[in-house]
Amino acid sequence: MINIKERIYETLEIKGGCNLRGTIEVSGAKNSALPNMAAVLLTDDTVELRNVPYLLDVNTMINLLQYIGLDVYEVGSGVFRFKLKKLNSLEAPYELVSKMRASILVLGPLLARFGYAQVALPGGCSIGTRPVDLHLEAFRKMGADIKVEHGYIIGKVNGRLKGSIIEFPRKTVTGTENVLMASVLADGVTVIKNAALEPEVVDLANMLKKMGAIIEGEGTDTIKVTGVESLKGVVHEIIPDRIEAGTFAVLSALFEGNIVVKNYPFEYLTYVHKVFEKIGFNIVKIGKDQVVVVKSDKLNPVDIETREYPYFPTDLQAQIMTLLTVIRGNSSITENIFENRFMHVPELQRLGAEIKIKGKTAYIKGVERLTGAEVKATDLRASAAMLIAGLIAEGNTVIHDIYHLDRGYENIDSKLKLLGAEISRA
Ligand code: UD1
Repeated sequence: MINIKERIYETLEIKGGCNLRGTIEVSGAKNSALPNMAAVLLTDDTVELRNVPYLLDVNTMINLLQYIGLDVYEVGSGVFRFKLKKLNSLEAPYELVSKMRASILVLGPLLARFGYAQVALPGGCSIGTRPVDLHLEAFRKMGADIKVEHGYIIGKVNGRLKGSIIEFPRKTVTGTENVLMASVLADGVTVIKNAALEPEVVDLANMLKKMGAIIEGEGTDTIKVTGVESLKGVVHEIIPDRIEAGTFAVLSALFEGNIVVKNYPFEYLTYVHKVFEKIGFNIVKIGKDQVVVVKSDKLNPVDIETREYPYFPTDLQAQIMTLLTVIRGNSSITENIFENRFMHVPELQRLGAEIKIKGKTAYIKGVERLTGAEVKATDLRASAAMLIAGLIAEGNTVIHDIYHLDRGYENIDSKLKLLGAEISRA
């Protein structure tokens, strides 16, 4: 059984300036594994998921599924089988939801399959308020009675959910996934308008289609789902993690082409590559699924805005900021998705970065080099930014609250040590 220890108070010590070299491999996508695991609730049959990353968030989702009543077996490396044993509970308790907001993803499948769900309200989180009102509105429109009481979302459906037209007023990734999972078992046709285009939404749709769902238009902003009575089991392989891949691309750029990134989902990062090219880096493909990032010319500052897929992802904002802190000139990053996602800025400043925040834009003036210091990992992607910063800084860096990193980066210490990094946990 997967057993990743939650080491809340751990710190990571990094010796800066080591010469990293070698090949680093991208794991399965966290943001694909989580919805695809929630989707196993939609069938009585066995579902086998492959290329599942060993992450704290995956652990939390397994615990949640077991709590509901599923048997979960690890049958190989990154290969898990799920099967409903005996329905135990239709609740996602606060204890699990508070560890991971993506627990909200069980709401749609539970409502569609069992007509009832009680999910703790995710509440605020470190990168902003992140409400789930759009999920709830959509389920109401599909005929569910949704109440929020005592910190819980309580949903009830009389019979089956009804196919409806769901038009999201803004794009939401897990909102689209939740409605997609609910609508595959609904009565009639559901049309999701202004749907999220993310590759993880497409991966979920592909898995659901193999289970017998009727879905058209995934990967565009209009998804049409024709509800069916039941779904069957499936064997499905999770796509590679484009955010982990992008994080490693930043490392490859900083270590002057000495780092090859393997299992790299090139097609999911087209826009990110344009940004790298503007800075003066080329993404060079080696064979089918490997890349190396090399300097093409003089390096230039850039202005970046985060936006929904296919544009620059908010989940790579902190990592690219670390890169920009050492590119000569004035760059800027505007964060359009989350209102409070610059918490890594004061930490980067501790390492000597020159950054000023005005509203939702961070202005970065490139410095010659960063210098090691004690910093805090404030959220998942911010911790990756700290890690990169520590690796290029002069001297030692200590990162506190490193458990955020284990939520989303599989075996990151070992992967980096293989490249020659000197890092240790305490
Ligand atoms: C997903 C990703 C996360 C990524 C984010 C944006 C997963 C498990 N997580 O999160 O890594 O950073 O997409 O790419 O896939 N919003 C509302 N009401 C809602 C839902 C969302 O106002 O009901 C707002 C959010 O506060 C945010 C924006 O919409 O400002 C987009 O959020 P959303 O796409 O829903 O993010 P998540 O699906 O939670």
